[in-house]
Amino acid sequence: MEVKTKSLLDNMIGVGDMVLLEPLSEDSFIENLRKRFDHNEIYTYIGSVVISMNPYKSMLIYSPEKVEEYRNRNFYELSPHIYALADEAYRSLRDQDKDQCILITGESGAGKTEASKLVMSYVAAVCGKGQEVNKVKEQLLQSNPVLEAFGNAKTVRNDNSSRFGKYMDIEFDFKGDPLGGVISNYLLEKSRVVKQPRGERNFHIFYQLLSGASDDTLKKLKLDRDFSKYNYLSLDSAVVNGLDDATSFRTVRNAMQIVGFMEDEVQSVLELVAAVLKLGNIEFKPESRCNGTDESRVKDKNDLKEMCELLGIEQSVLERAFSYRTVEAKLEKVSTTLNVAQAYYARDALAKNLYSRLFSWIVTRINESIKAQAKTRHKVMGVLDIYGFEIFDDNSFEQFIINYCNEKLQQIFIELTLREEQEEYIREDIEWTNIEYFNNAIICDLIENHQNGILAMLDEECLRPGTVTDETFLDKLNTVCAQHQHFESRLSKNSKFLTDHSLPHSCFRIQHYAGKVLYRVEGFVDKNNDLLYRDLSQAMYKANHSLIKHLFPEGNPAKVNLKRPPTAGFQFKASVGTLMRNLQTKNPNYIRCIKPNDKKAPHIFTESLVCHQVRYLGLMENVRVRRAGYAFRQAYEPCLERYKMLCKRTWPHWRGPAREGVEMLMADLQVPAEEFSYGRSKIFIRNPRTLFFLEERRRQCLQDLATLIQKIYRGWKCRTHFLLLKKSQIVVAAWYRRYAQEKKYQKIKRATTVVQSYTRGWQARKLLRELKHQKRCKEAVTTIAAYWHGTQARRELRQLKEAARNKHAVSVIWAGWQGTKVRREYRKFFRANAGKKIYNFTIQRIMQKYFLGLKSTLPSMSPIDKNWPVRPYIFLDGVHTELRRIFHLWRCKKYRSRFTEDKKAVYEEKLEASELFKDKKALYPSSVSQPFKGDYLEISKNPKYQKLNSSVDEKVLLADVVNKINRANGKGATRILLLTKKNVVLADQKTGQVKASVALPDLTSVSVSTQNDGFFALRLKEGSASAVKGDFLLSSEHLIETITKLHHIGSAASDGEQLNVDIADEFLVQFKQDKVCVKFIQGAPKNGNGASCKRKNNRLLEVSVPASA
Ligand SMILES: Nc1ncnc2c1ncn2[C@@H]1O[C@H](COP(=O)(O)OP(=O)(O)OP(=O)(O)O)[C@@H](O)[C@H]1O
Ligand SMILES: [Mg+2]
Repeated sequence: MEVKTKSLLDNMIGVGDMVLLEPLSEDSFIENLRKRFDHNEIYTYIGSVVISMNPYKSMLIYSPEKVEEYRNRNFYELSPHIYALADEAYRSLRDQDKDQCILITGESGAGKTEASKLVMSYVAAVCGKGQEVNKVKEQLLQSNPVLEAFGNAKTVRNDNSSRFGKYMDIEFDFKGDPLGGVISNYLLEKSRVVKQPRGERNFHIFYQLLSGASDDTLKKLKLDRDFSKYNYLSLDSAVVNGLDDATSFRTVRNAMQIVGFMEDEVQSVLELVAAVLKLGNIEFKPESRCNGTDESRVKDKNDLKEMCELLGIEQSVLERAFSYRTVEAKLEKVSTTLNVAQAYYARDALAKNLYSRLFSWIVTRINESIKAQAKTRHKVMGVLDIYGFEIFDDNSFEQFIINYCNEKLQQIFIELTLREEQEEYIREDIEWTNIEYFNNAIICDLIENHQNGILAMLDEECLRPGTVTDETFLDKLNTVCAQHQHFESRLSKNSKFLTDHSLPHSCFRIQHYAGKVLYRVEGFVDKNNDLLYRDLSQAMYKANHSLIKHLFPEGNPAKVNLKRPPTAGFQFKASVGTLMRNLQTKNPNYIRCIKPNDKKAPHIFTESLVCHQVRYLGLMENVRVRRAGYAFRQAYEPCLERYKMLCKRTWPHWRGPAREGVEMLMADLQVPAEEFSYGRSKIFIRNPRTLFFLEERRRQCLQDLATLIQKIYRGWKCRTHFLLLKKSQIVVAAWYRRYAQEKKYQKIKRATTVVQSYTRGWQARKLLRELKHQKRCKEAVTTIAAYWHGTQARRELRQLKEAARNKHAVSVIWAGWQGTKVRREYRKFFRANAGKKIYNFTIQRIMQKYFLGLKSTLPSMSPIDKNWPVRPYIFLDGVHTELRRIFHLWRCKKYRSRFTEDKKAVYEEKLEASELFKDKKALYPSSVSQPFKGDYLEISKNPKYQKLNSSVDEKVLLADVVNKINRANGKGATRILLLTKKNVVLADQKTGQVKASVALPDLTSVSVSTQNDGFFALRLKEGSASAVKGDFLLSSEHLIETITKLHHIGSAASDGEQLNVDIADEFLVQFKQDKVCVKFIQGAPKNGNGASCKRKNNRLLEVSVPASA
């Protein structure tokens, strides 16, 4: 018999399993623990129980590789580890369908919470994967930081001490995938909210909120970051080494989100936490009343106001609830005032209740998120992490409750591992020497006995009418429990303690399994009653805050319940009872945590402390029972059922008693006799190795069986498949053959048709040829006959034609002779008329040709085009000239008809100029090609002449610069000459000022020379207004245009009287009184072509005009 596995014995430091310790004594036990602890081996087994030493430092033994290493391995295969226990529990749950519970015990700070988290993370790592499963796992794991923030606090024993009990059921489906979970919480140590012992802190969340929340959040919660501002936060150890509250706050918020808290729920929770802090700051002062009593009043209302704002409570309602208390009897309501002490009591009670109810709500809320959705039956793994056994300097009701809980856990351990096991050996008739151990049932009884247990006494005292104080409760204990061997009190009847000065009068002492604890009775009654004045709960219920209203349902006036609520002790006892019953239905797995030192420091092993824990945890007894006993037991039926495949005689069916079957099996497997014993109903296997051997053989056998089943199944499957293939093949072959024959037939048929058609074609062609031959022969005869007949016919025709011709010749000769005779007769009539007719005809033809020729050779439509085609015949001379004249007139008319009115006026002017000057003045020809522009100065547009333009009323018809000839010396001065319909105006060129204005009717004539110059004289009517200074002698570059215009307008202005234009090289002008002769002479040619004027004497002004080149 050999198991081919690694063993925990390999490379072992000390002894991995205390069962193997030799020699077994308390010293060697502790020495073994120390040795392993020194070598960082913090886990040691006692059989299947794991002892865990708190290393107080982080260890590299929880990596994913380690998880893989321990996954699906036998418990004893590798060195001791908490993962081995977690794996064993998980596999039993998954494979053997046994609900499991992991019981983690040990005193405060021994590492229970850490161990529970390790177990959970291991199970999460090895169980199934998938999106939904991962979400469930993540939610289960993330519930821990949330609960730790609200339920853990720093104590002198542990920086992260659980101040509540937690039992978590993780639910799995049949495959071992997590479905969800249920968390039960046990009594939160709520007194911590209002007061913390020296060196301890309030719950983590308060510090985390103040350190980690953003300024904005704090402002919304009306909080200040400074811890010292809050009475409920003790200051001496507000900051804990190794704890980063700010980071933890972020972790908690994140965890809340993952667990499924809505954003407004988180906000409500934080508001409640803030409200508790605010509540702590409310202080009271006494106010004397007329009846001599003191009534409490809120000192500074600011905190109260802020708290009320946070929770949506009406301030006056809460303020009143801190000053009055209403007691409702059956029919009456009595209102009494509260003094300052009572007001503080009420305040603290409210704070504690607020916080503990908030905590319970959080647990319920987490449960809502993590509860299993599927309604199928599930397997359960429970993890119990409860507050550890505590001994403080000052122990109160909370420690009493915590230690009671630990007593119960110890009892369940003893029950299942020591007593139950030993009793089973005896029951099963197994040879057994009894092993002594301490059974703590007696202590449990002292506390929980229904008649005279301490909790029952406390309840009795709380419910009793009359004055009840902590002292009356202690008195009662002193009388009822005095004789109990684990109860100690100075005032008890047991004289033994009368002189014990370590036992104060207000205390009692209990000898717990883990040591003696001194409890101070102060506060026991109050804490057990856990009373909250109804006025406060009603004030809370009235709050306009969904969560707070929900937390205080008893405040609903419609549901006033006059019955007292169950006491805290009663509730706790009941829930512990339920827990114990629950644990007993599951397969237990133990982790027993040991604290190596009291300094929370690594590497320190305080022997006395460890020894104490080893003793009270009953570990030595555990080893002894384990060594003497058997590692495994199982009823015969399930054992045979499980292993019957290992023996041919029991497989597949054993017909006989199960025990004989098992005996047969063991004999067949040759398991040594000392390795097992047969009990009445069970077989007991001493060594786990034997069990592993059986399991290994079973596993192999199952594999073989699986292979066999697989083999038969495969064979059957292949055969069925083959038969199907064969059947199908026949069908396929039949179908194929039919198809192939059909194809062949079709082919032959097609070939036959082709051959047939060829043959038929050939025969037809042969026949056709014969028929054609016969036909041709027939046709040849016809042709020959036709030719013969044709020849005959033609010969006959020729003869007939010959005869006809001969006949016709006679007729022609006859007609010719007749014609000659007629012509000879007619000739004399013809000669008399023919000549005239021929002439007319010829002339007609010639004219026709002339006109058509003229049409194509007509000259262009330009009136100045002088071309005209040449006359073809002399006799057409007159016509030709007349046609030319007519054509010219016609094209001139056409040309004129295209003129506009403006253009017509221009031409009229040009015509007038021609009439005036043509062949009279040498300057004229050069003016013909120049257009008459009129307004050379653009007088209406040019801003320079604006004034001048406006001074002339009429439309300006000509505006030009002229030279006015000085009468004295003949020199010129520039003037602007304007011509309107009525006036001639002379103005200064620079200033635009009018120098002279001559009305046109005052003009008698204009004189110019015959030469090439621009001089002209305006001759005025004698006696007219304009003639005062005499005539004007001017010179212009546009003489022809100026004079023409003047002539045209002047004639119109003087009602048909023509303005004379004198053209002569000598004329007289009137200068003032003198008449001066202006004489034009020809000078030598000059550059610039300008004429010069010179006064020769009084009577003569000589103008020298250069001869034109
Ligand atoms: N396996 C471990 N590895 C590293 N440190 C550990 C381990 N177990 C415990 N510790 C350290 O010990 C401290 C106390 O452990 P833990 O909170 O689990 O004690 P506990 O038994 O739950 O105490 P209580 O009863 O007060 O809740 C932890 O905060 C951690 O620093
Ligand atoms: Mg803990």
